[in-house]
Amino acid sequence: MTGAGGQLGREVVAAFAGHEVVAADHATLDVADRDAVLGAITTTRPDAIVHAAAWTAVDACESEPDHAFLVNGIATRHVADAARRVGARVCYISTDYVFDGTKPEPYIEWDAPNPRSVYGASKLAGELEIRGDPDATIVRISYVCGEHGTNMVKTILRLAGEHDTLRFVDDQRGHPTFAADAAPMIRRLVVDRRPGCFHVTNQGAVSWYEFARAVLEAAGADPSRVQPISTADLDPPRAAPRPANSVLDNAALRLSGLPLLPHYRESLDRLVRRLEG
Ligand SMILES: NC(=O)c1ccc[n+]([C@@H]2O[C@H](COP(=O)([O-])OP(=O)(O)OC[C@H]3O[C@@H](n4cnc5c(N)ncnc54)[C@H](OP(=O)(O)O)[C@@H]3O)[C@@H](O)[C@H]2O)c1
Repeated sequence: MTGAGGQLGREVVAAFAGHEVVAADHATLDVADRDAVLGAITTTRPDAIVHAAAWTAVDACESEPDHAFLVNGIATRHVADAARRVGARVCYISTDYVFDGTKPEPYIEWDAPNPRSVYGASKLAGELEIRGDPDATIVRISYVCGEHGTNMVKTILRLAGEHDTLRFVDDQRGHPTFAADAAPMIRRLVVDRRPGCFHVTNQGAVSWYEFARAVLEAAGADPSRVQPISTADLDPPRAAPRPANSVLDNAALRLSGLPLLPHYRESLDRLVRRLEG
């Protein structure tokens, strides 16, 4: 497992309890270091590699494209190369930001990517590095939240403690993905040796405005404290463009007869209870 210290990585490591797991966080393994990646993987000879390490600072990627393509693109080439040498299957974690957001309906796995940001383009580069491997799995997730690390649920709760009124954009829509829900499905896809691309998100599409209202409701606060704004109203504007619609239809899971993740509201209520614990 690469990126084992990240918000998704920690849940994936937990989901593989009972398996022998090498949990490589950034300090243990820099995936941009080819020799280190080849050394680690040819020494441990895993059956499968969940490759979640990535540079996820979406706005910073705009001003440092080389670093974005190094960590998200070339590093995935190193992981794929090492995996081939030991016959390990790769499960690459990707993103809704590979899409441009102009489709009026939810995106299915077979829609053509057309990233608008450097981050999205660099994550698509990672997909392209492993797409040639017929055994590889690509799992696209979106709007990730969870107990570990920084994410929107924690940010919204913090802002609600500091301000009376919160402003969130109402013109970007997606499916929240709770790391603790996605991780067991990632485990299942890996253990079942299912190749191909899967969208793995919770159900229920929201704008960030609707999501912030839901977070306040879950925390027992007044959701009318959240006001809708448009992306154009953001001050200062974000460096990276975001897709307006990045709702991921979980078509491949559905058509494979696999269960979908629960509605985001259930998981949000559980997470807020745990964070307020
Ligand atoms: N967050 C989202 O909303 C979202 C949405 C769609 C897809 N994804 C994808 O989901 C995966 C997991 O992301 P996440 O949400 O768990 O983000 P995260 O918490 O930022 O996890 C990414 C991890 O990768 C590590 N990393 C960065 N550069 C590395 C390098 N050169 N070598 C090794 N490790 C490195 C980071 O460590 P440091 O922090 O120590 O640098 C971090 O622990 C990523 O592939 C991401 O692209 C995330």
